[in-house]
Amino acid sequence: MLAGIIVALPAFATPMPSGDAESSSKALDKADIRTAPHDWRTDQPVIAHHAMVSSDQRRSTDVGVQILKEGGNAIDAAVAIGYAQAVVNPCCGNIGGGGFMVIHLASGRNLFLDFREKAPLAATAALFLDKAGNVVPGRSTRTYLGVGIPGTVMGLNEALAKYGTMPLTKVIAPAIELAAHGYVLTPGDVKIMGIRTSVFAAEPNVAAIFLNHGQAWRAGERLVQTDLANTLQAIATGGSRAFYHGPIAQKLVAASQANGGLFTMKDFALYTVNWDQPVMCRYRGHTIVGAPPPSSGGTTVCEILETLEGYPLGRYGYGSPEATHDIIEAERLAFADRNANLGDPAFVRNPVAWLISAAHAASLRASILPDKATPSSTIKGAANATEGSDTTHYSVVDAEGNAVAVTYTLNYLFGVGKIAGDTGFFLNNEMDDFTSKPGAPNSFGLVQGIANVVGPGKRPLSSMSPTIVLGPDHRVFMVTGSPGGPTIITTVLQTIIDVIDYGMAMQQAVDAPRFHHQWLPDIVMVEPGYMTPKTQAKLELMGYTFHQVPAIGADEAILAKDGVLQGANDRRRPAGLAAGY
Ligand code: DON
Repeated sequence: MLAGIIVALPAFATPMPSGDAESSSKALDKADIRTAPHDWRTDQPVIAHHAMVSSDQRRSTDVGVQILKEGGNAIDAAVAIGYAQAVVNPCCGNIGGGGFMVIHLASGRNLFLDFREKAPLAATAALFLDKAGNVVPGRSTRTYLGVGIPGTVMGLNEALAKYGTMPLTKVIAPAIELAAHGYVLTPGDVKIMGIRTSVFAAEPNVAAIFLNHGQAWRAGERLVQTDLANTLQAIATGGSRAFYHGPIAQKLVAASQANGGLFTMKDFALYTVNWDQPVMCRYRGHTIVGAPPPSSGGTTVCEILETLEGYPLGRYGYGSPEATHDIIEAERLAFADRNANLGDPAFVRNPVAWLISAAHAASLRASILPDKATPSSTIKGAANATEGSDTTHYSVVDAEGNAVAVTYTLNYLFGVGKIAGDTGFFLNNEMDDFTSKPGAPNSFGLVQGIANVVGPGKRPLSSMSPTIVLGPDHRVFMVTGSPGGPTIITTVLQTIIDVIDYGMAMQQAVDAPRFHHQWLPDIVMVEPGYMTPKTQAKLELMGYTFHQVPAIGADEAILAKDGVLQGANDRRRPAGLAAGY
C-alpha cells in the first residue's frame, strides 16, 4: 500500500497513536500519512547531567555554558546570555528593548521579573491616531513615537544583583569582547540582516555598522560593533545608572527629541523594573510557572491548559481530530478573554485568578461543542494593538536546580530600525503592542480592548511567555518559551502538551509541527506535517478553515527527566544551540 509514496515521517509518527479512530483499523492510504518538512532532526537529543542552556544563537549558548562551568548559577548565565544576545543576535537580543524573566530557585521559590518597556510620560491614548481618529500607518512602528523606554539593562542588572553570584563586569565581559573584536557572520546572521537592508540604509549611523560600505554584509565577514562595545563598557563600569541617568540616556533623549519623539530624562529616571508573583496553575500533576500581566502569556497558557485538562488528549493523540478540535476551541475562548481583559497591572485590574480558575474552565468546556467549530463571531471579546515579527527566548538550568526562562524583544526585527547617535544598539518599537484604536485588527490580526490603550508610563500588553514547568516533585521539569507574537502562547502550550500528554522527548516536542488559533481572525494557522489530509478534511467539515504557514514559533527548551537534562534548539532557528555539561 505504501509502495511508491515518498514521505518524510517524523521520528515519532510511527509510534504515536493517530487518534483517527476510523483509520486505525484500515490499511493506510495516502490520506492517512502525515507528510513532514524534510529538515526534521534525526540526530540524538542533547543530553547533559549537570546544567544546560538553549538559545537561538550558538555563541550566546556558549557564553552561558562557560559561565556555568566557571561556577556561575543560572541567573549569572542568563544575564551573560542576555548581554551576549544583544551583540550576536541584534535583530532580537537587545539592550534597547525589554522582556520578562521567570526564575525557579532550587530553594523552591518562583519569581517573575518584569523589565518590559514603559511608554514615555507624555504618551496619550490617541498617540497613534490622526485628527479624524484613524490609525496613522507606521507611526507606532517606524518613528520615535513607537519607542518605549528600554528595560533590558535594568532588568538584567537587577536579576544579577538579587540572585546572581558574579559581578556585572564578569558576566558582561563576553558581550564586550564579541562587540569589540567582532564575530564572523553565518548565513543565518546575514539572512536575517538582509530582511532590513533598506531600513539600515535609511539611517547613516545604522548603515555605518550594519551595512558594509553600503552593501549587505555577507557570510564569512566579520561584524565589529565598536559603539556597542563602548556602551556595554559604560554599563559594566557604571551599572544601570550609566544607562538611565548618564550619557546613554542623554543620547537617547537627544535622538528622540530631534526626531519627533517624546523621551525626556525624567522618563529614564523614573523607569523601574518590577518583581511580581508568577502566574501559577496545575496541569496533570505538574505546576506551570508563567509570566503574569503585563504579559498575557502565563494567564492565557494556564487558561487553555485548565480547559484542556478535562479532555483525554493523550488518548486522542497528537494530530488527531479530537485533540485538535479541543485545543483550537480552548485557544479561541482564552484569546477572546485575553484580548478583552488584560493590560498593565499598574493601570488596570486583571482578573487573572478568575481566568485561570477551574470554574471558568468548566464554563468554557460547557460551551465547546463536541463535533463542531464555534464561530468566533459568537464569542464576546473586545477590540486592539499590533504585534511585531521577532523576539528571542532562551532557557537555562544549572547544577543546583535553579532555572531561568527569559524572553525579550525589540518587537519587530531590529525594532524601529534606528540607533540613537553613537550608542550602537537598536531601539524597540514596542509601543506598537498597545491598542492604537479599539476595534482595528493589528498586523497579527489581534483584536484587543481598552485595557491595553496607551497611557503615560504604562507598559504595553505582551504575549511573551517564558515558562518553567515543575514536576510532581516540585523540581524543574521543563523550561520553555518562544518568539512569535501571539503564536508564542500557542507554541509554549503545544510544547507542554507534546511532552506531558503525548510523551514526546524535548527535541521531538520542539520540532513537532504546530497550529495556532487566536479567536480573531477565525482561522487556524498550521505548519506542514501537523495532521493527515484525512484529519484536515474531517476538521474542515466541522467548520474549521486552515491556512498553512511555513513556521510557528521557535522554542528553545530544556527537559529534566529521568535524572538527565535534555536540551533542544528549535529546527526553525538553526543558528541556535542547546549545550550543557
Ligand atoms: O511582546 C510581544 O508580545 C511582542 N512584542 C513580541 C513580538 C514577537 O514575538 C514577534 N516575534 N516573532
